[in-house]
Amino acid sequence: MTQIGQDLNVAAQLLQAGKTVAIPTETVYGLAADALKADAVAEIFRLKNRPAFDPLIIHLANADGLEKYASGLNKNFIKLYERFSPGPISYVLPKKDSIPDLVTAGHPTVAVRFPKHPSAQALLKMLDFPLAAPSANLFGKVSPTNAKDVAEQLGANLDYILDGGQCEVGLESTIIDLSASNPKVLRLGGLSIEELEDCLGQKIEFTKNSSSNPKAPGMLSAHYSPGIPVLFGHLGENLKNVNRQRCGSISFCKAVAGISAENQRILSPKGDLKEAAAKLFGSLRSFEKGSIDLILAEEFPAEGLGRAINDRLNRASAT
Ligand code: TXA
Ligand code: MG
Repeated sequence: MTQIGQDLNVAAQLLQAGKTVAIPTETVYGLAADALKADAVAEIFRLKNRPAFDPLIIHLANADGLEKYASGLNKNFIKLYERFSPGPISYVLPKKDSIPDLVTAGHPTVAVRFPKHPSAQALLKMLDFPLAAPSANLFGKVSPTNAKDVAEQLGANLDYILDGGQCEVGLESTIIDLSASNPKVLRLGGLSIEELEDCLGQKIEFTKNSSSNPKAPGMLSAHYSPGIPVLFGHLGENLKNVNRQRCGSISFCKAVAGISAENQRILSPKGDLKEAAAKLFGSLRSFEKGSIDLILAEEFPAEGLGRAINDRLNRASAT
């Protein structure tokens, strides 16, 4: 049986011994191991059933010692780091040899993040190595936002789940590639592009990634599957063609006519995209299989975190 607890010493000792431990971050829970030990990292891939071509993010408490793992700490990095880290942003930087190729799936770059969650911060400060940590879900499934969700997917195979409560942000980090001359967002996430643009004082490109894009091999279209088909788009239109009694709904702030109250997830009645983002993954997981056949998901406003929410819903709907 997996232990769930709040003991930082237990987590640190297991990680020092080369084991994997699920850890809380402010975005989603991560499945962590010593990023400098290839065999510990290999265990992450095995437990998640993750293809080896999908690189991992490494986590540090702060940028002290970052030069051991990455180069290219240029002006843009410093500006963004000072404003947003620790927080929900990952930086893709040229990698150094200390990081095993398995972590980066053979890429010459490494993604680095400084999580803000107090338990993640405290744990990282106890360790003298970075933690490689993908989201703590089985490959292709919805990312967990509390310890119980981790246990449901990976529980049987883990030594320890460090419980840090409910994730505050609820969406994975925004990934920004700083390895080329022009900064580029590779994954929408918990920090909006508008905030990044405001900080750097320039437009930032976001290219939708696909499995054919080698720069971001993990961003496959079919991801975040809740195990029930999802129909994403204009709710009013989609409602015309379905059996409403067998549908669940995910909407931003308004109720959906014709769907029973228990099958509705209204993510933020007051219309706050941050609140909606924090509730998204839990809501996707919460539908009871068997009682509905389809989840209708509304398109969110295409601004701020709404873009990241639409990205996740779109991928949850891909088959
Ligand atoms: O919020 C988060 O980022 C969470 C928490 C646990 O920190 N982690 C997370 O990891 O979402 P994961 O493995 O589920 O997603 C990481 C994404 C993958 O899609 C991967 O392809 C991309 O980051 N990635 C990692 N290293 C990269 C690199 N060097 N270049 C481009 N993309 C990279
Ligand atoms: Mg993931």
